[in-house]
Amino acid sequence: MSDVLLELKHLNIVYGSEYKQVTAVNDASITIRRGEVVGLVGESGSGKSTLANGILGILPRTAKLSGSMRFNGIELIGLNETAMNQQVRWRQISIVFQKALAALSPVHRIEEHMIDILRAHDPGIPMAQMRERMKKLMTLVRLPPETVRSYPHQLSGGMLQRVMIALSLLFDPPFVILDEATTALDVLTQRQILSEIRRLQHEFNLTVLMISHDIAAVAENANRIVVMYASQIVEDGPVETVIHAPKHPYTQALLGALPRLDAPTGRVKSIPGSLPDLSLSINQCVFAPRCAYAMDICWQGVPAVQVVEPGHTSKCVRVNEI
Ligand SMILES: Nc1ncnc2c1ncn2[C@@H]1O[C@H](COP(=O)(O)OP(=O)(O)OP(=O)(O)O)[C@@H](O)[C@H]1O
Ligand SMILES: [Mg+2]
Repeated sequence: MSDVLLELKHLNIVYGSEYKQVTAVNDASITIRRGEVVGLVGESGSGKSTLANGILGILPRTAKLSGSMRFNGIELIGLNETAMNQQVRWRQISIVFQKALAALSPVHRIEEHMIDILRAHDPGIPMAQMRERMKKLMTLVRLPPETVRSYPHQLSGGMLQRVMIALSLLFDPPFVILDEATTALDVLTQRQILSEIRRLQHEFNLTVLMISHDIAAVAENANRIVVMYASQIVEDGPVETVIHAPKHPYTQALLGALPRLDAPTGRVKSIPGSLPDLSLSINQCVFAPRCAYAMDICWQGVPAVQVVEPGHTSKCVRVNEI
């Protein structure tokens, strides 16, 4: 068995409408190995959710994918809905979204949601086995087993996110995507949930793609960090290295924008300018208009991905000077 679980190569995702085409993911390549927790960060609108939803094939019909997306040896681009449902979603890859309450019908108890999903994917499953599974999952996410008797609105935000994580683990998938799954929670609950996920990763060799605005949470929980800016992956490397010695000006700026308690003025640096219009074609470094290091060469074409050291890349021509 190869240790690579998911390999995205030159992935493009374009939303099309009558009026314009928005390239939300542009030439993205990422390799995720079994058991890794990969953090995906970048400012709002950079294409993180599009990438995640693209992997699960849950994008609107207007979205077009090209390039390659191999999961466990299977090419996902072009795989039909039936195969996607029977082989991939829930069983192989599941996702936890930020808005748990919106994802669950308010008139059904948690157990009804779980039973529906279990039955849809495994029609012959006996009731006793389903009860056993639900009990085990509740224990796994540290909730009392009776929680499954509740309606969604009877649970707190933190409990609901735990329920969503339990749902995502119904079929023991090897790969889970968390899309801002803990962002809406208070810091303590967030830490608790993320430490549960880390425990699952250690115990079951779970592989996790963790999308978050919260770089501190990513730094604490991921092994690797992938930085996205305006549809492109600009840096990818081990968490420690990227946080302490970022090799892309955007990563540097993003880290500089974090509030620091020890900063003398208490002020946070912002990044001047705004994200480019993703409906226009980009033939230069995508960050050049906002970059303090930009030179003529940065405007003369999309920079190639530079290898800083094995396992660490940056899409910047000035990588050696940063
Ligand atoms: N259904 C859609 N149709 C057209 N464009 C879309 C659609 N969904 C997203 N986009 C565009 O794609 C780009 C990327 O959006 P996406 O939601 O993937 O960003 P994100 O990094 O997840 O942002 P956030 O951090 O705010 O969740 C944005 O420019 C957005 O406007
Ligand atoms: Mg998003």
